[in-house]
Amino acid sequence: MKKLFIETLGCAMNVRDSEHMIAELNQKESYELTTNADDADLIIINTCSVREKPVSKLFSELGQFKKVRKSGAKIGVAGCTASHLGEDIIKRAPYVDFVIGARNVSKITEVIDKKHSIEIDTSYDESTYMFGEFRSNSLKAMVNISIGCDKQCSFCIVPITRGEEISIPSNLIVQEVKKAVDSGAKEVTLLGQNVNNYGRRFSSSDSGAKNFTELLREVSKIDGLERIRFSSPHPLHMDNEFLEEFASNPKICKQIHVPLQSGSTRLLKEMKRGYTKEWFLDRCEKIKKLVPNVAISTDIIVGFPGESEEDFEDTLDVLERVRFDALFSFKYSARPHTAAAEYIEQVDAAVASKRLQKLQARHKEIQKEIMDAQIGSSVEVLFEELKSDGKVAGRSDEGRLIMVDGSEELLDKILNVKIIKANITVLHGVI
Ligand code: 5AD
Ligand code: SF4
Repeated sequence: MKKLFIETLGCAMNVRDSEHMIAELNQKESYELTTNADDADLIIINTCSVREKPVSKLFSELGQFKKVRKSGAKIGVAGCTASHLGEDIIKRAPYVDFVIGARNVSKITEVIDKKHSIEIDTSYDESTYMFGEFRSNSLKAMVNISIGCDKQCSFCIVPITRGEEISIPSNLIVQEVKKAVDSGAKEVTLLGQNVNNYGRRFSSSDSGAKNFTELLREVSKIDGLERIRFSSPHPLHMDNEFLEEFASNPKICKQIHVPLQSGSTRLLKEMKRGYTKEWFLDRCEKIKKLVPNVAISTDIIVGFPGESEEDFEDTLDVLERVRFDALFSFKYSARPHTAAAEYIEQVDAAVASKRLQKLQARHKEIQKEIMDAQIGSSVEVLFEELKSDGKVAGRSDEGRLIMVDGSEELLDKILNVKIIKANITVLHGVI
């Protein structure tokens, strides 16, 4: 049997794309997955291009693969960097056998057989393609609900690498979720670049759900499915109807990612995010009012062109007021073909680093307080992993990591746990 090494960088969408590639390849010929590149007949690196660093790392990594690969082994570059660099990858690294973009995943079985083939058409429509079945986690499934992204956030390269947004018809989504549930999944994460913009455009007619709230209702009717998560929504499209469904539907986990990017209304405008600081705060307040123990996570960029001390203070102010459960924070990185890359008022790198440090330090304090406040509470936990020290790990409805003493009979079960101890990343409890 041939061996496949696949490295996945970037977001959950990429993780699912890798699963799709594995499934498609296996439909043609059986592959065994390996974690050693030097052992593989086929090496694929599924790339991310959202920030510059991983892109520059790509070529040094490719050089490594070239050195260690078995004779005759093929090397392919997939994902977002494949989409936007295309044939430049082969020009710079001619030993790369194929390049397959983030919007062309279904063509994997074609490209592996054609030396130097490049499939990076970002208008290619995979929204109704039925991929083969492969899931790395049978308990927790990922299901795509849309491809591409129609937003034009001025810092973001994704619309260029993944093309325009097309929603997957809801009957196909429901079919996918049912398949996953039939093979043991209890939880599903609905995936898209902008999930709550669902229904904006379909490429074929479907009489099912027309917007994200309706889709959530449809999916939640599936018997045997216990938990629904989604990633990622956009603050702009968080209307009351959606938030009320989020709050009242018992299958929807009470964890929500609300990507802020900046707390400054002036900068949000420059970023072309479409909302103000006040709108963002209002949505978070509404979420907390509807679901008091909700876990809200966010993404923040510091050092966006033109960010003043005052703009950054606005970001800190939002951090203080919302008190996020989790923060993913980044220094702005100029990306090719994006509007912000042309903005001239770049922020000094040392200033941006200082701001990032300050933001992360304050967030850590808040996070500790949030975790400590969980002591004494009871949460529903889906147990997933047996640890070596007699502990079993799982996630609460709110997505928090929970550990209890126990053995494998807890695995795959949803049980009520009382929290007795907390640290910054883990809550310890008893059943
Ligand atoms: N520079 C820094 N961070 C970025 N992100 C997207 N584009 C950039 C960029 N050019 C961040 C945003 C987004 C997350 C996935 O990555 O915060 O929400
Ligand atoms: Fe990276 Fe964005 Fe592409 Fe995901 S969609 S792999 S985060 S660039």
